[in-house]
Amino acid sequence: MTISYDVLERALQSIKQAWPEAKPSCGLILGSGWSDVAEAFTVKSTIAYEDIPGLGAPGVVGHSGRLIWAEHAGLETFVFQGRRHWYEGEGWTPVSLPIYVLKKLGCTRLMVTNAAGGINSDFQVGDLMVITDHINAMCAHPLIGKANSIWGPRFPDQTYLYNAKLRDQLALAARKCNIRLKQGVYLAASGPTYETPAEIRSYKTWGADAVGMSTVPEAMLANAAGIKVVGLSCITNFAAGILDQPLSHKEVTEATRVAMPKMTSLVLQFWGEMAEAGLD
Ligand code: HPA
Repeated sequence: MTISYDVLERALQSIKQAWPEAKPSCGLILGSGWSDVAEAFTVKSTIAYEDIPGLGAPGVVGHSGRLIWAEHAGLETFVFQGRRHWYEGEGWTPVSLPIYVLKKLGCTRLMVTNAAGGINSDFQVGDLMVITDHINAMCAHPLIGKANSIWGPRFPDQTYLYNAKLRDQLALAARKCNIRLKQGVYLAASGPTYETPAEIRSYKTWGADAVGMSTVPEAMLANAAGIKVVGLSCITNFAAGILDQPLSHKEVTEATRVAMPKMTSLVLQFWGEMAEAGLD
C-alpha cells in the first residue's frame, strides 16, 4: 500500500508528453460535489484520469475524473476534477499522484476542497469552512514507507500546515463576494462508513469542527513537499447523531449543488487575490 514512485514517475512523464509546455503555479483538487467549479476556469486542455498511469477513474458519485490544464486570473493551474480516496483500497499511489505531479512541475500553491459533515453547532448546511488545522483519524498515513526526498525531512513539521497568508486571502475573497466563511478544524476518518454518533461526540471533544474522509493525506504531502496549502470544506450535512436521521451521499451532493454558485465565486475571487498578492 506504500507509494509506488515508478508509477508516479510514469504518470508525470505521460502528462509532460501530452502537455510539454505546462508549468502550473497552482493546483486545485476538487472533492465531492465540487467538480463544476472547474467549468469556471479557462480550459486549455484535459486528460481523463484513466489515461494517466496509476490514477484511474474515481469510484464515487459526484467526482468527475479529469485533469484540467486551466488558467484563471493569469495563474496557470492544474485542476484535478475528482479525487481518489484511501478507502477505495488502491493504496496511496493514486492519492499522492496529484501532489507528486504538481511538485515536479513547479507548483507552489494548492487548494484542497471537500464535502464535510458539520460537528460545530454554529455551522449550517451549505456553509463554507476554511480549514485552520486538521486531525488525522484515518489510522493510516501516506508517508509510511521508505523516505523519499521529494517529501523533505523524514519527520515533516506540520505546525503551520494550512498557510496563514492564503487563509487571509481566502477570507478577503469571501468578504468581497459577500460570502459567510466559517473556519475550523477538519477531522479525516478513513471511511467508507459514515461515523457513528458516539464517534462524532468524541471527535467534538477532540476539537473537530467538521468531519470527512479525505483532504488530510494530500494536505500533509503537499506541506511536506513545500507547497503552500489552503483547504476549503462545504458543510453538506450535520454529522452523525446531531439530527435524529441517517446520513446519505445524496444529501451531500444535493447540498453542494445548492452551494455551487457560492463555491465557484469564492474560488475564482481567491485566485484573483492570489494573483494580485503575487506568488512569492
Ligand atoms: N462524514 C464523513 N464524510 C462526509 C460527511 C460526513 O458526515 N459529509 C460529507 N462527507
